[in-house]
Amino acid sequence: MSVLKGKKIVLGISAGIAAYKTAHLVRYFIKAGAEIRVIMTPASKDFVTPLTLSTLSKYPVASNFYSKNDDSAVWNSHVDYGLWADFMIIAPATANTMAKMAHGICDNLLLATYLSAKCPVYFAPTMDLDMYLHPSTLKNMATLSAYGNICIAATSGELASGLVGEGRMAEPESIVSFIEKELSKDLPLKGKKVMITAGPTYESIDPVRFIGNHSSGKMGFELAKEAANLGAEVLLIAGPSNEVLSHSLVERVDVVSAQDMYDVAHAGYQSCDIVICAAAVADYRPKNVATLKLKKSSGELALELIKTKDILASLGAQKQGQFLVGFALETDNEINNALGKLKKKNLDLIVLNSLQDKGAGFKKSTNKVTLIDKSEKISEFSLKSKAAVAVDIFNEIISKINA
Ligand code: CTP
Repeated sequence: MSVLKGKKIVLGISAGIAAYKTAHLVRYFIKAGAEIRVIMTPASKDFVTPLTLSTLSKYPVASNFYSKNDDSAVWNSHVDYGLWADFMIIAPATANTMAKMAHGICDNLLLATYLSAKCPVYFAPTMDLDMYLHPSTLKNMATLSAYGNICIAATSGELASGLVGEGRMAEPESIVSFIEKELSKDLPLKGKKVMITAGPTYESIDPVRFIGNHSSGKMGFELAKEAANLGAEVLLIAGPSNEVLSHSLVERVDVVSAQDMYDVAHAGYQSCDIVICAAAVADYRPKNVATLKLKKSSGELALELIKTKDILASLGAQKQGQFLVGFALETDNEINNALGKLKKKNLDLIVLNSLQDKGAGFKKSTNKVTLIDKSEKISEFSLKSKAAVAVDIFNEIISKINA
């Protein structure tokens, strides 16, 4: 998921040939889950139609200070647009529009909105080679940067005039990834590496049978998504699960058995800052795995089970500054059992699930957790979606690592 999800964006379009590319830009923003209001300068409508942009942005395009609607006029408040937006982007930003922005001229709705916007403003210049290199354009761009506006630099290439050089508006994909990177800079887990184990493990009996459990992996996947939304680079080690997660900051490694999960977790451990073991790892596995399918016989079948390695306990024993979080699923004497695991496995935080709580546990989309830290501070949370529980868990982790 993109950091753009839920963001409110005002896209200002001025009159350059690159305006035709804004249809793609709007599409990318909408696909990323953002909300968009498009403001066009009157002349830009010669390059791309308001109908295209209102259809793609799912909202009427504004261009004038008021829209004539039958006999009544509807005021397009530049102040409201400016206050509504999380950020504004002016793309393409022509030499003319940048000159006016730099000098406080506001003779159209786009410029008046720019002047009243309190949010960050990005601008993507575009113009022909000599206009781009003219000292007045360079000075205006420097003035805009000095105002705190963020320039998404033009690239070099063939220009509409046929000249070759600097002045092409950055491609819509590059504009989107530039802004995504800028927005991630302020995120609390930016620069941190987070490893998460999730889902069940399957322990083979023979080529067709295994010992498994009912874990869906949902809690671990929600944690991975939240960590990535907070800017972390995430290694998600997933046992067999139907959950899906697509995020540019999440690397997913699929494993099957406890031993596979152990190996991947240990290989990635040293470079991690935060590790959360949310997987329901099998505690036992068959001592011998039959190479051929076991056949029915008249008698009973006894399986000899041996212990799997405890991944979390092993990571706790080798801890070197990582913030280590475990889960405890309990049915009785919950707090004491969880505290026992926290100490035995050398954890910084343990997330207690009680199967006594309605709506908590396996295969549910909700969870009810109690967090216990090293100082035995207990924080109880209400029943909520697993996504919201992931937010609570990371709030607690972030407050602890920043303390
Ligand atoms: N865990 C692990 N590797 C294992 C078993 C458990 O990493 N082989 C982790 C789980 O991911 C969880 C925590 O240890 O974070 C607690 O697991 P749980 O099964 O509740 O506790 P156990 O220590 O196995 O004790 P018991 O099953 O007896 O309650």
